[in-house]
Amino acid sequence: MNTIRPRRNRKNSAIRQMVEETQLGVQHLIYPIFLKDGKGIKEEVASLPNNFRWSLDQLLPELEACLKLGISTIDIFPAVDDALKDQMASYSWASDNFYLRAISTIKKEFPELVVMTDVAMDPYSSDGHDGLVQNGQILNDETLPILAKMTIAQAQAGADIIGPSDMMDGRVGYLRSALDDNGFTDVSIMSYTAKYASAFYGPFRDALNSAPKSGDKKTYQMNPANKREALLEAQLDFEEGADMLMVKPALCYLDVISLLKENFPVPITAYNVSGECAMVYAAAQNGWLDYERAVGEMLLSMRRAGADAILTYFAKDFAQFVRS
Ligand code: PBG
Repeated sequence: MNTIRPRRNRKNSAIRQMVEETQLGVQHLIYPIFLKDGKGIKEEVASLPNNFRWSLDQLLPELEACLKLGISTIDIFPAVDDALKDQMASYSWASDNFYLRAISTIKKEFPELVVMTDVAMDPYSSDGHDGLVQNGQILNDETLPILAKMTIAQAQAGADIIGPSDMMDGRVGYLRSALDDNGFTDVSIMSYTAKYASAFYGPFRDALNSAPKSGDKKTYQMNPANKREALLEAQLDFEEGADMLMVKPALCYLDVISLLKENFPVPITAYNVSGECAMVYAAAQNGWLDYERAVGEMLLSMRRAGADAILTYFAKDFAQFVRS
């Protein structure tokens, strides 16, 4: 028998905790939230149980509860009425936009809450694409000024972090300049750097009714087969001034998280996307696995791979688990 017995370091809970390599706490989590115009609305997303489309009046007390649980950062996504969508996503910077108004109210009510916003055309676009569509093509450079208008409107409303999720080339640098030129040097950019064309966004697109009207997102989102290409995306976003680099989805891309962590000196974040969470909810509802343990293990795997922060629909449940 070998004299080295790894089991000695697992022999009781005190020793196990002493030698634990990875920490996971609510401070590492960002909570994505769906917002809808109106009053008195709290609609559960059918394909994402436990998650809701909120109207602002309903959301405010919920945010207070989240803050009490230690959740310090949220990422808000708008569910926009179809009638307000157009080819240019012009509602995204409209002065009467409910999303922008909600951001300012939230920042007024809870100045300490870090608010992240999403920059991409899809929730506002009649084409359901992240960029401008012309003759079936997604135009890159023509999309950038639209994203910049959206970004400035969100910064004016009080966003702390903007999250460009569109995957257009050159948008991080473009948006950084737009922010700086407008005096928003303190607004951070968490760029969706390695965002893959994934099957796991389904419930999110249900929540926002934002699926592409035609075609798919493969000319701008990355091919799931590619890893070295993530280094190129990361290098560009880093050089263009991204404060944090995101990998999305998380679970099928833990190797990419770890690759970026080793190669870039900025925080790496992971988006534990809607489909990944839906799988766990569905299995747990069937009694096929233990929800609390599965959630903890999933999130831990992302931290172990190197994620500094994780966007996850489990944020509130996790915060409740660690409290109890
Ligand atoms: C789109 C966007 C998507 C998500 C965040 N921003 C979906 C998409 O690219 O179609 C997905 C998040 C999730 O599935 O939880 N700009």
